[in-house]
Amino acid sequence: MKVLVIGSGGREHALVWKLSQSPRVSKLYCAPGNGGIGNEAECLPADQKSLDSLLVLAHQVQPDLTVVGPELPLQLGIVDEFQRRGWRIFGPTKAAAQLESSKSFAKEFMQRYRIPTGHYAICDSLDEVMEALSRFSTPVVVKADGLAAGKGVAICQTKDEAVLTATDMLAGKMVGLAGSRVVLEEYLEGDEISFLVLSDGERVAPLVAAQDHKRIGDGDSGPNTGGMGAYSTASLVDEQMQNWLVQHIARPVVEGMKAEDVDYKGILYCGLMVTARGPMVLEFNCRFGDPETQPILMRLESDLLDAIEASIDGHVSDGDFRWSKDASVCVVMSSGGYPGVFEIGKKITGIEDAESVEGVKVFHSGTSRIGDAYYTAGGRVLGVTASAAELSSAVKRAYEAVSKIRFEGAHYRKDIAARALKKS
Ligand code: AMP
Ligand code: GLY
Repeated sequence: MKVLVIGSGGREHALVWKLSQSPRVSKLYCAPGNGGIGNEAECLPADQKSLDSLLVLAHQVQPDLTVVGPELPLQLGIVDEFQRRGWRIFGPTKAAAQLESSKSFAKEFMQRYRIPTGHYAICDSLDEVMEALSRFSTPVVVKADGLAAGKGVAICQTKDEAVLTATDMLAGKMVGLAGSRVVLEEYLEGDEISFLVLSDGERVAPLVAAQDHKRIGDGDSGPNTGGMGAYSTASLVDEQMQNWLVQHIARPVVEGMKAEDVDYKGILYCGLMVTARGPMVLEFNCRFGDPETQPILMRLESDLLDAIEASIDGHVSDGDFRWSKDASVCVVMSSGGYPGVFEIGKKITGIEDAESVEGVKVFHSGTSRIGDAYYTAGGRVLGVTASAAELSSAVKRAYEAVSKIRFEGAHYRKDIAARALKKS
């Protein structure tokens, strides 16, 4: 089977790596891919922000199956366009993807189906923000309604700060048009968990859970990023909790969508805060997470292609996944300056040495390759991922591998999974 993966990050490298292990995959393409993905798939140039570009490419390549990594093509309706042409593609339609592409849509949807989430207000003007703020205590969270690559959320300590933030967002100064509507949200405290399920529009099957580390600095300091590291263990979400999350969150989403004539097919990523009042939804994503996918897929023992096909063909069951009990962890190495301004084109050394550490795989996020050499090409550069029977050993392996990699300005967090290790 010829499979095309769309995207260019660490998540897509992990998807390609796992799909390359499937005996039924005869040829793998990735568009546009990156320096490291080229080792496992043929990378093809395409503009992932343009449906036309992706349609032209798919027409040329004629894949038997297309797997979409990032949210933007889903929001643009790539699944609808492929389905109209009779091409097989994995992921939700444009209507279903609104759960991620509009926070106000997601909030109102959760309210309709009584899915646990924080109190909120949807505001289209500063007057509405001022009026709504009287109903919130501080800190209060201000979110841009649209897609903002992790940069559309501000936790404001005072109401004055919330007003200033909302003013900038509404004026398009922070995240452009994505902020022309804002959502105010109750601040929730607790542990964050990324809980993903596979859906075929009716049934859901949970994946193993992961925990992301969103802030740039150790101890959760500094600005939010796309994600600086993640880990996955069998104990992060036990069976009882998993059943609760399926029953009260994942299944009601898919059933609610169905009640509104939308088949939610693909991955549903539930970003949760486990609070004293129970787990609450912070956000939905309609795709695999990055970097969560790297440690999650490292624990997957069964064939990813089978699971993807079960979603498309409508026969998802718990048996679609078989997981290792091992723990896994991904430490992201980023360019100095990220998530702000950073330089690219720095030579990277030591990747092979890093991969010689037992249980380690280095997923490429933002790299390019010239000859045999790799260069930085993005904010997040590499996802150094390790597995081991115990989380502590996986963490040790990952950091040993990280220590072998060098590029100018390299940054990484030193405390990925540290809180979990302290608790255990
Ligand atoms: P989101 O894109 O909505 O997931 O928000 C990005 C990050 O901001 C989350 O992963 C949380 O760390 C934080 N966050 C978002 N909403 C809230 C909230 N209501 N309370 C506390 N933290 C939040
Ligand atoms: N790691 C968070 C995300 O993929 O949105």
